[in-house]
Parts: sequence; C-alpha cells; structure tokens
Amino acid sequence: MASGTNRNDIYRRDFDPKDYMDTYFNKTSGLFMDDHYLKFILTHLHNTFSSGDVKGDTLIDIGSGPTIYQIMSACEAFKEIIATDFSEKNHQEYKRWLHNEPGAFDWSHVGEMVCKLEGDRSRWTDKEKKIRAAVKQVLKCDVLESNPLDPVVLPKVDCLLSLLCLEAASKDCDTFYCALQNITTLLKVGGHLVLCGVLGCKAWMVADKQFPGLPITEDFLRSSLAKCGYDVKEVQVQPVAGKCNVNLCDYYGNFYLVAEKKKEVK
Ligand SMILES: C[S@@+](CC[C@H](N)C(=O)[O-])C[C@H]1O[C@@H](n2cnc3c(N)ncnc32)[C@H](O)[C@@H]1O
Repeated sequence: MASGTNRNDIYRRDFDPKDYMDTYFNKTSGLFMDDHYLKFILTHLHNTFSSGDVKGDTLIDIGSGPTIYQIMSACEAFKEIIATDFSEKNHQEYKRWLHNEPGAFDWSHVGEMVCKLEGDRSRWTDKEKKIRAAVKQVLKCDVLESNPLDPVVLPKVDCLLSLLCLEAASKDCDTFYCALQNITTLLKVGGHLVLCGVLGCKAWMVADKQFPGLPITEDFLRSSLAKCGYDVKEVQVQPVAGKCNVNLCDYYGNFYLVAEKKKEVK
C-alpha cells in the first residue's frame, strides 16, 4: 500500500547523519543520553534478545538511519542482520562504521553500556566485530511502499526491529498504519516485531533543521498492531516529562514494545 507524502523529500534533502548522531548520541551532550532514552531502550532490547524467546536466522532493522545501537543486543540472537534506510546519506554513514573507516561515529560509550548489561563492560571490541560480521546487507527501504525493499524481494524473516522510523516517515496516523502493514509483509507468521520510539512528538530538530513528528499514543499503537494481525506481548512506556530538552524534541514519553505476528492480514 503506497501512500504519498513529501516527507521523503525532507529526509533526502535535510537529514544529516552526522548532525543527527551528534545531537542525540554524543557521549556528553546527546539528548538521548540525557533523557534516559538510551538506557531505557538498551535495557529492554537486552532483556528481549537475551530472553531466548526472540531469536532466529534473520532480523531486518527498518529505518536504521546511521545508527547501530539498536542491533547491539540483537546480534547475539540472530545470525544475520539486514540494515535498511530510505536515505543514501545514511547508508554511506552506516557503511563507514561497518567498514571501520576514518571518521566513523564512535559508539564505544553506548557499546560499553550494552556490554555492561550483558555482564562484561570490557567486551565492546569483541561485540563490534560480532555486529560487523552479522550485518550482511544495507538495503534501500521505503516504508511507504507496499514492498518496502523494492526491487529486492526477500524471504519472510524471523524478526523486524524498528526504532524512531515509522513516526518520522508518516505524515498522519493513516500513513503510519499503512507503513506498519507494509513492513509486516516482510515478517513470518510467528515472527516478532520490536518497535520503539517516542510518544506525542510533533517536531524534532537535527542541528538547525526541523523535522515533523507524528504525535502517536499507546492506544493508537495497540489498535494498529491488532488490526495488522499482531498479538502484543509487551509494552513499556517511560515518561520523559521535565527530562527532555523541548527545544530539540517535544515528546512526552518513550515506548518499547514486542509483538508477535499471529496471522496474515490482507
Ligand atoms: C529519527 S531517524 C531514526 C534512525 C534510527 N533508527 C535510530 O533509532 O536512531 C528516522 C529514520 O527514518 C528514515 N526514514 C524516513 N522516512 C523513511 C521511509 N519512508 N522509509 C524508510 N525509512 C525512512 C530516515 O532516513 C531516518 O534514518
């Protein structure tokens, strides 16, 4: 199901991967360090991917952007990871890290947080190698298209992971729902969706550029997932009132959810 929007043009033109990582993931000034988003997300990702309930051969990360924090735990539970994003600039930045090239973002402060959750903070260098070995492809993806990976057609996978992407890509709730339907076609029945993001976000900044958000709620997420054939296994919400820098991003909470695809919905 394709639904037209001009947001794709906004990402193509204005999204700067380096500015994004610096604004949100910088070791000392990053908003996601400050508002506890990272601690919240990394803890739940660790719990999910170390539980033994969510594992398999292949995981697709939808809308990876230039970031790899989201697959640091998943690489322990899946043999193969496919990174995807709409923007070519993000692919370049992602591959810079993957190939360990000069100028790549230093994820060690985040990696050490994940390794600490796993019980050995000093293991980051090993984990870096594991992530680099697990990521087999970096593909173009548009969640607004009925096959988001077009022209690539893949066998359905065991897990979809997507952080902060659908609400960034969708101009309204109908578009979000279509995007959810579109990515769900990539998932096996019995497979899991791990979806994370922010609630109530109308706009967010990267350096001096403003991007439109989509102020979604937990109720909207639950009803959309049910209509797409999912059984919601876990929802976690972390309020951020008073913690976040509203000049950068105006959300009121972070969410983390795990859902199992129970059936195909046409
Ligand atoms: C806020 S960033 C999130 C990046 C990363 N997942 C993270 O957690 O930091 C939103 C991402 O969605 C991507 N995006 C926007 N529209 C998209 C679309 N239609 N299809 C796929 N990705 C899209 C952008 O290129 C950007 O990388």
